[in-house]
Amino acid sequence: MRAVIAITLFTLLSPLSHGADDNQGKRLYTMYCTQCHGVHGNGLGVNSSRMSVQPRSHIEREEMMARSDEELFKVIQQGGKSIDKSNLMPAWGDNLNEEEISALVAHLRQLCCEENGNE
Ligand code: HEC
Repeated sequence: MRAVIAITLFTLLSPLSHGADDNQGKRLYTMYCTQCHGVHGNGLGVNSSRMSVQPRSHIEREEMMARSDEELFKVIQQGGKSIDKSNLMPAWGDNLNEEEISALVAHLRQLCCEENGNE
């Protein structure tokens, strides 16, 4: 009986905990990134019309696939300048830890390459 309960709990909880990981990236993205990169990640955030360099659209598969996960991590942590991009892309390393930045990289991969077509 105890084993049955344990297995049931395991089956119930594992998709949930997986979901929590996915949500962390999405939650952080919504909180910190959408004002420039847009609520759908398409680069059309509320700030974008007044910016001299346009925020990258994160749903453009080809552009995003040209970057490695390491580069995405670096530009989030150290800012645009670190990969020869504009300083208008802020550095988040003082505010977000490595786990949070990794969650963001995973979320970017979802946006560009798994949810394409969602706009
Ligand atoms: C103040 C506006 C602003 C905010 C907030 C912002 N970005 Fe950016 N981001 C930019 C701009 C502008 C660029 C384009 C820089 C360029 O092309 O020179 C950029 C570029 C990027 C790139 C590089 C894409 C590429 O390969 O060209 C990534 C990745 C990125 N941002 C991720 C994020 C993430 C993740 C967040 C939230 C933690 C975030 N940005 C928050 C403005 C912003």
